[in-house]
Amino acid sequence: MYVCNCNGITETEVKEAVRSGAEKWDDVHTYFDCAPCCGKCECEISEAICQARRDTATDDAPLFAAPAALATAG
Ligand code: FES
Repeated sequence: MYVCNCNGITETEVKEAVRSGAEKWDDVHTYFDCAPCCGKCECEISEAICQARRDTATDDAPLFAAPAALATAG
């Protein structure tokens, strides 16, 4: 299911971004090398981030490893 219609970001992709270190809704856009347009997805992406954290809490994957895409973002 899409959580950002402007950029075609799905819940599954939010989970991927969270696993790579995204902590805020705009981090998710940065991870996918795009930017928020209308901003209507802030609440939905934030909720998807919380859900992704809960879903991955028992996984061995680090939740907050800084990906290269975020480390270089200004
Ligand atoms: S729906 Fe995400 S920026 Fe518009």
